[in-house]
Amino acid sequence: MASTTTLSSSSIRRIQQQLRERTKREQTRNNGRLFHEANRLKRLPLYLFTILDELTQQARAQGKDIINLGMGNPDLPPPKHVVQELVRQSRKPANHPYSRKGGEVERKLNEAIAQWYHRKFRVTLDPVEEVLPLIGSKEGISHLSLAFLNHDDVALVPNPTYPVHFNGVVLAGGILYNLPIHAERRYLPDLRAIPPSVLKQSKMLFLSYPHNPTTAVADLKFFKEVIAWARTHRIMVVHDFAYSDFVFDGPRAPSILEVAGAKDVAVEFHTLSKSYSLPGLRFGFGVGNQDILASLAKTKSYIDFGIFRAVQWAAITALTGPQDYVQWAVSTYKRRRDAFVPLLKRIGWEVPMPKGTFYVWAKIPPKFSALTSLEFATLLVQETGVVTAPGSGFGEYGEGYIRFALVQPDARLREAVKRIARVLQMED
Ligand SMILES: Cc1ncc(COP(=O)(O)O)c(C=O)c1O
Repeated sequence: MASTTTLSSSSIRRIQQQLRERTKREQTRNNGRLFHEANRLKRLPLYLFTILDELTQQARAQGKDIINLGMGNPDLPPPKHVVQELVRQSRKPANHPYSRKGGEVERKLNEAIAQWYHRKFRVTLDPVEEVLPLIGSKEGISHLSLAFLNHDDVALVPNPTYPVHFNGVVLAGGILYNLPIHAERRYLPDLRAIPPSVLKQSKMLFLSYPHNPTTAVADLKFFKEVIAWARTHRIMVVHDFAYSDFVFDGPRAPSILEVAGAKDVAVEFHTLSKSYSLPGLRFGFGVGNQDILASLAKTKSYIDFGIFRAVQWAAITALTGPQDYVQWAVSTYKRRRDAFVPLLKRIGWEVPMPKGTFYVWAKIPPKFSALTSLEFATLLVQETGVVTAPGSGFGEYGEGYIRFALVQPDARLREAVKRIARVLQMED
C-alpha cells in the first residue's frame, strides 16, 4: 500500500492518461469494425460500470485485495425457504415448458403480488389486469420506453438517477429531457421549471424514491402533487420502487399508488433483488394502470417467453412467506450505514447520513475536486482496492460525487475506510 506521502500529481496524471487511452482504444475498435452498431447504441452514454469492472480486474490481477462497493449487488444470503422452493420446483418437469398466461402458477403469482401489495400499502389491485410479472424490474422499466416513446416524444428523467431510466429512453429512440435534482430541493424534481414547449411533447415522467444514487426519500405529499400535475398534463408516471423497504429513520416509504386517482396515470415497479437479496433470480413486477401494463405485456410478448416457472413459485414463497428476513436485511444495512458514515467523518470526509437505500452518496473531498468522478473512483481502486461507483455514471448532474454501496460485511467496510484514509492524507 502507498505511504502517506506518495500520492503525487504524477499518479493522477497517469490515471488520466490511462482513461484517455482507454477511450481512444474503444473508438479505434469501433471504427475498425466490419459491422457498425446501430446509432441508438452509439447515442448511449459510456457504461461506466464496464470500465470500473475492467479496472477492478486489473487491480485484482496485480494482487490487490478488492473491496467491492461499486454495484448495488446485495451480499446477504437470500432467504433459505425461498431457495429451497426454487430447488424443489426446478426438479419438476412440469415447470420447464414455456410459461403461459393463465396457467396455475401464473395465476397464483399474480394473486400473491396483489395480496402482498394490499398488505403493505393498503392498495387494492386487480391481479389479472393490474399486475405484470417481469424478468427483473430493469427489464420492465427499459421495455416500457420501447412500448410508448416515438421519436418526437419526450421522457422527463431526474438526473442523477439509476441509468436504466435514461438509457431505456435513448434505446427506444425517444427524446430525453433531464430534470436536474439537487440536495437543496431534497433531490425532488421541480416540475414547474419544465418549459411549456417541453411539457407539451412530454409523455412520461420517471421517478424512484427511495432514490438511487442520492438516497433521498419522498413523502405522499410530493406524490400527490406529481399525480395532480400528471393528470392535468396527461403524462404517464413511472415509479421505480426498488428500495421500498429501505427507509431508515423516518416513516415507511409510500407507494405512489396510495394517491387517489394514481392508477389513472401511474405504474410502479418492484423487485425481489434488494429486499430479498435475490438479484440473480431476475424477478420483479409492475403494478398500476392496466392499459400501460397491457402495452408493456404486448411489447414483451414479441421479445421474451415469460419467467421460468420455478422462479415464479419461488417468488410466491418470498411474497407470501414470513417477512422477518426483510426486516433483518434492512436492519443490517442500517447498522452498516450507522458505522460507515461516522467513520468517514472521522477521517475527514463528511457526507450526509443516507435516509434510504443501501448507498452513501459522497461529494468528492475538496482536495480531489479537480478530478472527475471516474478519475477519483479509478484512483481509489488503484491505490486502495476499494471499488466505488463514479457519480457521472448516473448522469451529468452526478459529476463531483461517488456512490458507495454498503454491500460488504462490517469489517470489510471498516477496512475500506482505513484504506481510503491513507489516500485522503496523501500529499500532492
Ligand atoms: C433504482 C433501481 N431500480 C431497479 C434496479 C434493478 O432491479 P432488478 O434487479 O429488479 O432489475 C436497481 C438495481 O440496482 C435499482 O437501483
